[in-house]
Amino acid sequence: MKKEFFEINGLGGEAGLEGEIRVSGAKNAALPALASAVLFTNTLTLTEIPSIEDIFRTQEMISAIGGTVQFADGTMEVGIPDSCTPDLTGDIAKRMRASVIFTGPLLARFRRVRFPHPGGCVIGPRPIDMFLEAYERMGATVRIEDGLYEVSAPRGLRGASIFFRQQSVTATEAVMLAAALAEGTTIIENAACEPEIASVADFLIANGAQISGAGSSTITIRGTTLLTAREHYRCIPDRIEAGSFLILAALAGKDVRIHNVNCAHIRSLTNELERAGVELRYGENSVRVAKSAQSYCPLTFKTHEYPGFPTDLQAPMLVFLTQAGGESLVFETVFENRLNYSEELMRMGADITVMNPHQALVRGPRNLHGRELPSPDIRAGLAFVIAAAIAEGKSLVHNVYYIDRGYERIDERFAALGLSIIRHEFETH
Ligand code: EPU
Repeated sequence: MKKEFFEINGLGGEAGLEGEIRVSGAKNAALPALASAVLFTNTLTLTEIPSIEDIFRTQEMISAIGGTVQFADGTMEVGIPDSCTPDLTGDIAKRMRASVIFTGPLLARFRRVRFPHPGGCVIGPRPIDMFLEAYERMGATVRIEDGLYEVSAPRGLRGASIFFRQQSVTATEAVMLAAALAEGTTIIENAACEPEIASVADFLIANGAQISGAGSSTITIRGTTLLTAREHYRCIPDRIEAGSFLILAALAGKDVRIHNVNCAHIRSLTNELERAGVELRYGENSVRVAKSAQSYCPLTFKTHEYPGFPTDLQAPMLVFLTQAGGESLVFETVFENRLNYSEELMRMGADITVMNPHQALVRGPRNLHGRELPSPDIRAGLAFVIAAAIAEGKSLVHNVYYIDRGYERIDERFAALGLSIIRHEFETH
């Protein structure tokens, strides 16, 4: 089997990066948009789709259920004909959490769906109780057979009033998509408000779906028959990628221009960076950033559902805080194990005390030293690339597959800014 790692020669605290970088389409908008293809009679066209491993796996999953899918130059064509089988039984569904978004529209259209428990993940337990309870409220029955969930609604789903005990991005998406084909009206309360949800809802509305309130905590969906695609879906810019680039540029940028940024989607981050002393110059859909101080002010921040600080930027932000002068406090409120990666940063010289699974104290500034690092998940993987970029000496970042799951050709794009980063391949047995 082939594996890859990045060799990064760090800048040792210097502001050496310069140039332009464009943010890709958002992974977490592309995935529900692809799942929404189940609601259509004809083929959907989606543009600005990032070329990343999670999208390739989803493509394979769509083919495995009998769908048609073509992908070239950021444009994807997806069709889900009536001949598809709603069985997400492959390995991909087991490994990739986002596969669970497909369960809602598949159940609504084919009146049954079979799937494994999705994505055991290092960032904490990822239960699906809220999905199952919502499907039951919409008239489905849930059984577990041979380790697979079998959800069926032989007479079709019906609209229901659903209150999520916790805001969940993918549960909101799955239920919103299911409700689009249910009979009657569904109201989702305490829905997640992430912009990726509103983006997919706007696209569905443009094609005849009756959805209101997406992007707020109450979404109302009036079910219709299968939709016919008239408009294509254009993926919104990835706010997590934009945020990670801002952090990298604030730590190591001489003059970096980040393009294709929706600044309204990253207010929680830009607000914190500006509080810390980073100077940001906003253009139309772009931000210009440089290292604006030798050491920044410390911060206390907590992760929160949108519009609060995204948990997916917690790890890069913690790397940022290792370079702030004083004590910073990080609260991770969304996931259980999402501070585990900080041990590796300590081995690089960071001064971090993990007080409990949700809180870490960071004392800075500390010089980081290059070393070998694993990539435990998509976001911590990129945080390690950022840490390696500012460290002194050479780092080897392993399990590049995780980084490739979420970021398109990140090595080439960072190298274009002047980072010394090389991708190596090796054989394992
Ligand atoms: N939760 C439950 N029961 C459920 C569903 C969720 O208890 O049935 C809990 C989770 O355990 C968690 C909380 O609800 O504590 C919120 O998690 P959420 O369901 O919102 O997470 P998700 O939908 O599985 C999406 C993103 C994640 C991102 C989170 C939080 C996608 C495909 N994934 O996951 O992105 O971290 O929202 O914003 O949209 C990533 O891209 O690397 C990634 C992990």
